[in-house]
Order: sequence, then C-alpha cells, then structure tokens
Amino acid sequence: MGEIIDGKKVSEELLGEIKLKVEAAEVKYGKKPALTVILVGDNPASKVYVGSKEKKALEIGFNSTVVRLSAETTAEELSAKIKELNENDSVDAILLQLPLPKGLNGDEFVGKISPEKDVDGFHPQNLGKLMTNTNPSAVACTPLGVIKLLEKYDVEVEGKNCVVVGRSNIVGKPLAQLLLNLNGTVIMAHSKTKNLPEVTRQADILISAVGRKNLITKDMVKQGAVVVDVGILKDENGKLFGDVDFENVKEVASLITPVPGGVGPMTIACLMSNTLDLFLKRQEARAGAAGAAK
Ligand code: GUN
Repeated sequence: MGEIIDGKKVSEELLGEIKLKVEAAEVKYGKKPALTVILVGDNPASKVYVGSKEKKALEIGFNSTVVRLSAETTAEELSAKIKELNENDSVDAILLQLPLPKGLNGDEFVGKISPEKDVDGFHPQNLGKLMTNTNPSAVACTPLGVIKLLEKYDVEVEGKNCVVVGRSNIVGKPLAQLLLNLNGTVIMAHSKTKNLPEVTRQADILISAVGRKNLITKDMVKQGAVVVDVGILKDENGKLFGDVDFENVKEVASLITPVPGGVGPMTIACLMSNTLDLFLKRQEARAGAAGAAK
C-alpha cells in the first residue's frame, strides 16, 4: 500500500517559511511583496481560483490586488492595463488568470507582461530560460509544486523514467522540462498517444495532468511507481476528484497524491513563493544599482 503524499502539510510548511521571509524582508526593505492578479470576465472556476489566491496572499502578509475586468474588455484595454502594471513600481508580480474570454488570446497577453514580473513563468523569455536551464525569473506554479513535493518525499528524479500525461502549456510542458532538467528520462503522453497503458507502465514517476476521471487505472501503473495526480474536476455533487483511480492505484504505487490535498495546495504556495522571489530579486537589483551609482 502506497504512502500518501500530504500536499496540504507540505504547502503549510512552505507558507510558514514564506511568512517568516516576508517579515524579515519588511524589516530590511520597509515594504511587502505585492501581487496583482488580473481576472478578465466571469469564468466561475477562475473566480474561485483568484479568490483563493487573493486570500492566501493577504494571509501571509503580501499586498494583494485583483484587477477585475469585464468579459467585454478589448485587446487595447487589456494591453494598457498590463503596461500600467509593468510600469507601476509598487507591483512586483503580475498574474493574468487564464483562460481569457473568447476573442482574447492568452499567449499574446502573457507575452506583454514584463518577464521580471511574470509570476507564472509563462512569458516566452522565461519559458526559453526554463528550456535552456538558465534561471527563469519564475517557473509555472503547478509544475514547481509537483517538483517540491517530489523533493520533500525524497524522490530522486535523475535516471528515472518519468511519464507526463497531458501537454498543456500551464502544466505538462513546463513539468516535463523541469523533470528533464533534473536528469529524468521523460516521456510526454497526450490525447494522440497510442497504447497509453503500455507507456504509463514504463513510469517510475507517473504524473497525470489531463482532467479526466479514472484516466489512470491500476493496470496502467508499475508496482512501486510514484503517482502524482494534477487533474482536478468536480462531479455533479460538488465532490472533487482527479485523473487517477486513487483507491485502486494506491495498492500498487509506492507514493501517491490524493485529490484534494495533493498538488492543489502546492500550486498556491508556489505562487506565493514565486511572488516573494520576484520581490526579492527586484529589491536586490535596486540595491545593486544604488551601490553601483555611489
Ligand atoms: N488557470 C489555471 N491555472 C492557472 C495558472 O497556474 N496560472 C494562470 N495564470 N492561469 C491559470
């Protein structure tokens, strides 16, 4: 029977550490990290996610602002808002909640966020740096949360067969790259993959990020594999579940994340960690520039 990875506990530890660092930063720099989230339109799931991000940011002592724009916002208006936030010195981190309403292309607007304030690590410059393993300003929060969980549970990635199911820009692709940067042998599987069970059975570390109930069943998992479930869906009664048939898969996995309480809380903790990092980098750059000018 596999050990259950407690994402809630790990995320609380991480948030506790961030809170202490925020207090120290406030003493040192006389200000707090500031996160601004832009929410365009009224996608119900996005509203819930943004609400939790705002609440958590305030809880750990950040300045947290949500810019709510109507679904009718034009490309020009959204561009102008992003430009204003890029130029606003009191904003350290900008998150543009995705998806955007029809007619607005997420990639286009993410590309307008200053890379130094891109808390999601979605800007092409940060994605390029992730690919070349050369210090992106930030790395996407959910993939980073998965890596932090693996580290916390002493799961060595180097030399392991890692199978990532799902190739989204938000999770699958950056996660595969992070695993590759850690010297894993990475396979990306997706909706066109032939014979998925044969592919997933090769995994020492199996990560599913699709959003389909019971996509990963016991017969698809090698004995002793580490199984990470990034899927999150609600059934008609409001009950949350992931991609993995948890009750049966946990009999063969050595370690497994539950839904809820696995990857989900780590995403939000990593958003806070990224915000703090961007804030500290900006303060250090400023201190460096002031020193050089003396
Ligand atoms: N929508 C769903 N997940 C995310 C995320 O991690 N970042 C942003 N910006 N939008 C999302």
